[in-house]
Amino acid sequence: MKICCIGAGYVGGPTMAKIAQKCPDIHVNVVDINAEKIAQWQSDELPVYEPGLLECVKEARGRNLTFSTDIDEGIRRADIIFMSVNTPTKTYGVGAGKAADLKYVERCARMIAEVSTSDKIVVEKSTLPVRTAQSIKRILDATSEKGGVKFQVLSNPEFLAEGTAMQDLENPDRVLIGGETSPEGNKAVEVLASIYAHWVPREKIITTNIWSSELSKLTANAFLAQRISSINAMSALCEVTGADVDEVAHAIGRDSRLGSKFLKSSVGFGGSCFQKDILNLVYLCEHFGLPEVAHYWEQVVTMNAYQRDRFVKRILENLFNTVSDKKIAIWGFAFKKDTNDTRESAAIYVCKGLLEEQACLNIYDPKVTKEQIYRELGLPEDSDRIKICQNPYEAAEDAHAVAILTEWDEFKCDQMDYQKVLESMQNPQFLFDGRNIVDREKLKQMGFEVHSVGKSDFYAV
Ligand code: NAD
Ligand code: UGA
Repeated sequence: MKICCIGAGYVGGPTMAKIAQKCPDIHVNVVDINAEKIAQWQSDELPVYEPGLLECVKEARGRNLTFSTDIDEGIRRADIIFMSVNTPTKTYGVGAGKAADLKYVERCARMIAEVSTSDKIVVEKSTLPVRTAQSIKRILDATSEKGGVKFQVLSNPEFLAEGTAMQDLENPDRVLIGGETSPEGNKAVEVLASIYAHWVPREKIITTNIWSSELSKLTANAFLAQRISSINAMSALCEVTGADVDEVAHAIGRDSRLGSKFLKSSVGFGGSCFQKDILNLVYLCEHFGLPEVAHYWEQVVTMNAYQRDRFVKRILENLFNTVSDKKIAIWGFAFKKDTNDTRESAAIYVCKGLLEEQACLNIYDPKVTKEQIYRELGLPEDSDRIKICQNPYEAAEDAHAVAILTEWDEFKCDQMDYQKVLESMQNPQFLFDGRNIVDREKLKQMGFEVHSVGKSDFYAV
C-alpha cells in the first residue's frame, strides 16, 4: 500500500513519520510545495522541533518514508492521500477574520482530481469546517466522471498537541475516522482503520459519519480553549480577592467530573489552531443562523485577548506607569514549551503591547530563531527596539523586569541561577510570571518583586 501526504508541516511531518515507523510494509511519501521545507525533512535539521521526532524520522527515512516536492507523482502512485495543508483564518472577502481559508484544501482536491489515474481514498487530515467533505467530493467526482476514477473521502482529524506530538501519536486517546455511510464508505473507513490498528488498540478507533467527525475536531478544540479561558477569567477575580488560581484549579480539578487537565492559568493560549478553529466555529454558527451559539463561543477568544492585555497592563502599572526606554527581558517566545512554533503565541501580543509603550525588549527563546521573532513582531532586522539574546541571563542584564512568557523548564527555580539574575538587574527587580512556573515565595525572599497570574500579595492572609 502507498500513502501520499500533501503538506509537510507540524501535522503532516510527525503523523506520517509515526505511520511509517509503525507500518514498515506501507510506503509513506510526504510532499509539499515548499522545497526548503522538504530539504529540511531530508536532513537532520527538521523544520519542526518536537521531542522524539528526529529519532522517529531517522528510523523510517530511506526505508519506507520519503519527502518530495513532486506532488503529481506522489498523488499518482498513492492509494491513500492525506490532505494536511494549512487552513488559516481568511483575511479577505466574505468571512474575513473568522471563516477558514480553504484555498489550499481546494487546490489539493483539484490537483488530486487532475492527476489521478487510479481509485483513491482521500483523507481530510487538516481541520476543516463541517461539510467540507461535500465540496471536496464534488470537485473529485466532477473529474472522476470523465476518467472513471473513483474517490472516497474520509475525515480523520488530528488531535496531537505540539510539544507532545510524538507521545500523542504513539498513544492517542482516540483515532477518529468519519466516512460515507455506504458499503464503499465503510470499506474505505476499514482500510484507514487497519493502518492505525498496527499500533492503536481497536477500541480506541472511533468511526462516525463524516459530518460528526469534522465537527468533533472543532468541538474538541473549542472545549479545550474554553477551559483555559474559564480559568483565566477566574485568575482576574483571584487577583482582586486574594484567592490563588492554582489552588482553585487544584480544588476544582479534583472533581472527577471536571478533571485536572487544562486548568493552568496563563498569559493566554496561543498556537495555530485554538483561535482559528473557534472563529471558524463562530462563522459556521452565524452562517447557519445561530447567532446565540456564535456569540457564546466567541467569548472564549475575547477572554483570551483580555488576558494578554491584562498582562501588559500589569507590567506597565507596576513599572510606575511607564516602560518607555526601559529594558524588559522576555523569556520564551514560542506559544508553549518544547516547540519552535510561534503562531499566535501570547508572546507576540505582549511584546507588541510593550513595544507600543516604547519599551526595549531583550528576547530569549531556546528554540525560536532570530528571523522568526523579527518576522512575528513585524520589525526590520536592524531594529534597535529588540535584542535577541543567547541565554536568559544575557536577556536579564540591566533589565527593569523579566517577563516569563513560555513555560520552558530551564526557567524553573531549580534550573536557573536566580541570584545571578537578581544581581544583574535594575532595582527593584520585577518578575512577571505569565506561566506560574517559578517558586514565588523563594524568589520574593531573594528580593524579587514577583507578579504571577491569578495571585496577589495585596490580600495576603
Ligand atoms: P503547516 O502550515 O505547518 O503545514 C502545512 C503545509 O502545507 C505547509 O508546509 C505548506 O507549504 C503545505 N501546503 C499548502 N498548500 C499546499 C499544496 N497545494 N500542495 C502541497 N503542499 C501545500 O500547518 P499544520 O500546523 O501542519 O496544520 C495543518 C492542518 O492540521 C491545519 O488544518 C491545522 O488546523 C490542523 N492541525 C494542526 C495541529 C497542530 O498542532 N499544528 C494539530 C491538529 C490539527
Ligand atoms: C491543541 C490541542 O491540545 C490539540 O488536541 C489539537 O490537536 C491542536 O490544538 C490543534 O488542533 O492544533 P496545541 O495548540 O498544539 O494543541 O497545544 P496545547 O497544549 O493545546 O496548548 C495550546 C495553548 O494553550 C498553549 O499556548 C498553552 O500554553 C496554552 N495552555 C494549555 C494554557 O494556557 N493552559 C493550559 O492548561 C493548557
